[in-house]
Amino acid sequence: MTLQTRLERAINIAEEAGRRIRKAREECQFDSRYKDGNELVTDVDVEIDTFISTELETHFPGEQRLSEELTPDRDAILEDDTLWIVDPIDGTVNFAHGHPHVAVSIAWSENGRVQIGVVHSPFLNETFTAIRDKGAWCNGKAISTSDCQSTDAALIATGFPYDKDARFPLLRRLRAILSTCRDIRRNGAAALDLCHVANGTLDGYYESVSPWDFAAGMLIAREAGARTGHLYPCPEGIPEELYGENLLVTAPEIYSELKRLLERADRNIFDDER
Ligand code: IPD
Ligand code: CA
Ligand code: CA
Repeated sequence: MTLQTRLERAINIAEEAGRRIRKAREECQFDSRYKDGNELVTDVDVEIDTFISTELETHFPGEQRLSEELTPDRDAILEDDTLWIVDPIDGTVNFAHGHPHVAVSIAWSENGRVQIGVVHSPFLNETFTAIRDKGAWCNGKAISTSDCQSTDAALIATGFPYDKDARFPLLRRLRAILSTCRDIRRNGAAALDLCHVANGTLDGYYESVSPWDFAAGMLIAREAGARTGHLYPCPEGIPEELYGENLLVTAPEIYSELKRLLERADRNIFDDER
C-alpha cells in the first residue's frame, strides 16, 4: 500500500473522530476523572481512541498500535516494525474547559522512522498532513515555517507536565525565554504547537512529551522546513523520532540560538543578568 493511501485513510479516520469530538462538546455530557493521580481524562478520550483503533484495525488488520488511552505501552517504539501512534484527543484540558486548541493526532512509523502524519483540529478547522520527504500541508495547501532570524523576534510555544513537582525546574527555561524572545504561548495541545511551527504562526516549540503527542506533528514540522531535535542526546537504542524528552523544534535559523539559551537556563546561566 502506498504512503499516500495510508495517509488518505488516516485523514478520513481523524476527521470523523473530529466530528465526534465536536458533537460530544456540543452535547456536553461526559464524565472526567484523573488517571495516574493528576492527568485529566474524559469518557470522550476513551470513546475516540476506541473508534480510531477499530477503524485502524479494519483498514490495516494486524498492524501494531500505540495509543494513549487503550494501548499506551511505550515499549512498542523499541520494536523494529511498523507502528500506528495515536493521540485521540490532544488537549484534553482544553476540550474539558471548552477551549479550541484540541487535536486528533495519528502517525505511522516504520522501523522507528515516521512516514506519515495527520493532525486534525476540529474546532480550528485545520487538518495538517505530511508524507516523509514529500512535504507538509494544511487543508491541502503546502505550508512552510516562518523565516524568523533571531530569538528576540520569536514567538515560542511550550507546555508543562501534569505532575506539579516536575514543573518547577522548567521555570528557569521560562525565565530565559521571557527575557529574550518576543513572547511565549501555552496553548495546551503539543501536536498543534508543532503544526503551528510548521505553518509559521509560531517560531519554535520545546517540551518533554509522549510519543503520541508529537510523532505526527514533528514529521509535519520537519517536512515544512523546521529544524527538529533534542536538547540533549537520545539514549542509545531508542528511535529519535519517537523519543519525546527535551524536544526542540524551530524555524531553521533560530535553532542553535534557542538551544543554547535553553541549555544555559538548565545550567542556571542567564544572559539577562547584569
Ligand atoms: C497534553 C498536551 C499539552 C502538553 C502535555 C500533554 P493531552 O496532551 O499536548 O499541550 O503540554 O504535556 O500531555 O493530555 O491533552 O493528550
Ligand atoms: Ca497529548
Ligand atoms: Ca490525549
